[in-house]
Amino acid sequence: MLQIVNKNNYWEIIMDTYEVALEKSKKIEKSILENPKKHKVLTGDRPTGRLHLGHYFGSLQNRVKLANLGVPTFIVIADYQVLTDHDAHSEISQFTKQLTMDYLSVGLDPSKDITIFPHSYVPELNQLMLPFLTLVSNSELSRNPTVKEEINAAGLKKVNAGMYTYPIHQACDILFCKGDVVPVGKDQLPHLEMTRTIARRFNEKYCKKRPVFPEPQALLSKTPSVAGLDGAQKMSKSRNNAIFLSSSEDETAKLIKKAKTDSERFITYDPENRVEVANLLELIGLCTGEDPKTIAESIGNGGGGMLKKTLTEAVNEYFKPIRERRAQLEQDPEYIRQVLLSGVDKAREEAQQTLVEVRAAMNMVI
Ligand code: TRP
Repeated sequence: MLQIVNKNNYWEIIMDTYEVALEKSKKIEKSILENPKKHKVLTGDRPTGRLHLGHYFGSLQNRVKLANLGVPTFIVIADYQVLTDHDAHSEISQFTKQLTMDYLSVGLDPSKDITIFPHSYVPELNQLMLPFLTLVSNSELSRNPTVKEEINAAGLKKVNAGMYTYPIHQACDILFCKGDVVPVGKDQLPHLEMTRTIARRFNEKYCKKRPVFPEPQALLSKTPSVAGLDGAQKMSKSRNNAIFLSSSEDETAKLIKKAKTDSERFITYDPENRVEVANLLELIGLCTGEDPKTIAESIGNGGGGMLKKTLTEAVNEYFKPIRERRAQLEQDPEYIRQVLLSGVDKAREEAQQTLVEVRAAMNMVI
């Protein structure tokens, strides 16, 4: 049936629903388990500060699992992307190093097949931007729902062109190494759809017989969003509701002491009516592997005090080895630098190879 693409819900039509995306994600997960080396994971973060428990349970844990299965993994530190919604250049280098320490401390071990690199150090990756820009229309860019949300969230009065075009940068990040699996949260699905569109259009236009790019798939995390200590939808640094990987045990206790609960003493697990309490119980569950309902039952009359004490102990216990490793890494900035520089070498090698193929496909060889 012919579908008329209404301007406002264009993305809804071309994109899978979350349920369909989840189904596809399960399929790709199965294929990874069967044959990890056949795949390549590409993922990344903006260097905006230290990582917190939301990042850990929402994505880092999954990345470690994939890397341990032996899937070659590339992690881009998206330093240019930071500049799309705020002026951050005074802190970028420091944040890039913080991020790297967080990665290494959770077990993303560069002696395995893991490549960590800052975006700005790989010119050949960025060179894909120019051909890719010609494969996307202005209106496609201006309708991207995640970009719109970010513009609103940052309260931008003026939107720079980097903001509009960053989903294309992100396609370059993913396609330069021919990543075919992208572990992401729901908010990144429009970008992944853009990447798939670019890969498809490139292959169709320039190299139908021998496609250069794969159409990468989203691998959705089982914990897509960890709520903050205030019960708000998302744990985030800017909302001041986060526990960081690098928080000390005392800081963790203090942060949790201030967490929002409710006036009912008896602790029950009721995610609909007692959002804040349920959220704290879920966090305990993420750390201990127990069911939030069972945890609630064992706390019961112990009330909010006992709930917070249990959470503090669970977080501090779970993150103890990670925090110890992180403290060691902080003492060795040269090692962090070396990890990044060897990541850059490896990423450049891949990007150079891809660029050779792109040039040939586009008939630009001299
Ligand atoms: N846009 C992502 C974020 O804001 C970061 C990112 C950059 C990314 N490049 C990527 C994520 C490639 C996945 C794949 O968190």
